[in-house]
Amino acid sequence: MGQDRKRVLFDARTIGERVQQLGKEISAKYPQGNLLFVGILKGSFMFMADLVRCLDVSCEVDFVRISTYGSETVSSGELKVIMDVSTPIEGRDVILVDDIVDTGLTLAAYREMLLGRSPRSLEVAALIDKTERREKSVQVDYCGFRVPGGFIIGYGLDCNEQGRQHAGLYVLE
Ligand code: IMP
Ligand code: MG
Repeated sequence: MGQDRKRVLFDARTIGERVQQLGKEISAKYPQGNLLFVGILKGSFMFMADLVRCLDVSCEVDFVRISTYGSETVSSGELKVIMDVSTPIEGRDVILVDDIVDTGLTLAAYREMLLGRSPRSLEVAALIDKTERREKSVQVDYCGFRVPGGFIIGYGLDCNEQGRQHAGLYVLE
């Protein structure tokens, strides 16, 4: 898929304002701080970096790499953990951070795995909730933007590893 034809979905300023709101919301819910943010690589790296900078409370960060087995377009739903979280999560307040929830299969499966390790709480922050192709319902507690469909790049999201560097979000046409 070429990236020459793309249109702005949300510009950098709009994203910045929304991320700021999410940071305030999370800070208000956990005034005691000591949160553990777990970012799902690679797509969440920019969102995560901005989100933690908008917090008014203390936190730690960790990262995981996961995907589901299957072809590029059809996911099997079976979780593949490429790099697991290195911080013990038992008794911790965990916020799992993803770039975009599409079918929901990857996030739902990893969330279940983390719940098995007895965190004190586990919530999900996703920059984009893309609803059209949802197969597995997964609660997004902090959602940046809800869109029906389309292929989105920028602000960490890629198309064949290209386009992550853009400060805004674009939809490929
Ligand atoms: P799913 O929710 O298990 O289908 O997987 C979601 C993952 O697929 C996301 O974390 C992204 O890595 C990737 N993905 C799905 N839709 C898009 C998109 O529109 N742009 C970029 N990556 C996407
Ligand atoms: Mg992802």
